[in-house]
Amino acid sequence: MARILTIVGARPQFIKAAAVSHVLRRQHDEQLVHTGQHYDDNMSALFFRQLGIPEPNHHLDIGSGAHGRQTGRMMEAIEKLMLDDRPDWMLLYGDTNSTLAGALVAAKLDVPVAHVEAGLRSFNRQMPEEINRVLTDHVSTLLFCPSNVAVANLAAEGLTKGVYDVGDVMADSLQLAAANAVQGETVVQRLGLEVGGYALVTVHRAENTDIPERLQAIVDAINAMPFPVIFPVHPRTRAALTAKGLEFRAHVRLLEPQGYVDMVALLAGARVVCTDSGGLQKEAYWLATPCVTLRTETEWVETVTYGWNVLAPPSVANIVEMAVNATAPATRPELYGEGGASERIAEIIGAFA
Ligand code: UD1
Repeated sequence: MARILTIVGARPQFIKAAAVSHVLRRQHDEQLVHTGQHYDDNMSALFFRQLGIPEPNHHLDIGSGAHGRQTGRMMEAIEKLMLDDRPDWMLLYGDTNSTLAGALVAAKLDVPVAHVEAGLRSFNRQMPEEINRVLTDHVSTLLFCPSNVAVANLAAEGLTKGVYDVGDVMADSLQLAAANAVQGETVVQRLGLEVGGYALVTVHRAENTDIPERLQAIVDAINAMPFPVIFPVHPRTRAALTAKGLEFRAHVRLLEPQGYVDMVALLAGARVVCTDSGGLQKEAYWLATPCVTLRTETEWVETVTYGWNVLAPPSVANIVEMAVNATAPATRPELYGEGGASERIAEIIGAFA
């Protein structure tokens, strides 16, 4: 049994912890720390309630801020916790500022880091997430990769020790939610949507929300779509849209950020999803919904290789055309393992303990 300190802070990390935490706790002693990077009810608490994630042992309540300040404040608080009670492992997910804060503190205190979703690369150092993931991987002792492409990315950077292709923990999360997503009246019915008749859109990356021409191009594309559009709006995006005074036509329905189960149902029922989210690209693939990624590159290159995802360059005409023409390929190979990544992670940590 190992004593594990797990850091979460942003929405995609809650979704991953929902699958991993319960499995870890069958054989390990896990303490959960919530940095408070995401704090709105529908970005945070809603996920803990709906997905049955264990209540965090520590809330750091750091909130929003510039990258240096946000990361620094997290580091200070995490270091204090670890000095008070030193764990055997620090477990981290993904590529957020919460991930990097945990990685740096643990590395300096000589506490080994286990990184879930290691080896992903966009090869775009302009993205804060790319900096976070590269640095985290390079101080990690255990690198849990979701695919063999991720393993190869690490090898290219000289990282081969402690690297495991365990498959994607999000497959486990999706399995947990998918059963609930189709029970009772679904959000698709509640909103009066026709299955296969609407596009689902999400946008939150800094490169899309903070570059005015890019945001304008995305809004123009959404307004030009020839079918209804459902758009759950991330708070960062809501603020950018308001600041720029951007508006939508009547076929576009703006929603608050959705819970995971409703998001899965919306995605499963959509004819196409247009998104800059990493997680949604894979969930679309698992749920057999064609995806248009509103970026110039993706970490999930396999989804593009097999025709389930296309990258939309920053031009309105292309986004609309790609959304209209997106169709599901005939085959869907198993790209990210067959589920069970959470169990493998728990076992490998156990073997090292
Ligand atoms: C973060 C992650 C990103 C992840 C995303 C999922 C980093 C660098 N980025 O981006 O990798 O894909 O989470 O959503 O860590 N805000 C609220 N309420 C909240 C949370 C945020 O209003 O509950 C607003 C704040 O104005 C904040 C802005 O959203 O400044 C951005 O939040 P932040 O956590 O910095 O980054 P995300 O864009 O959410």
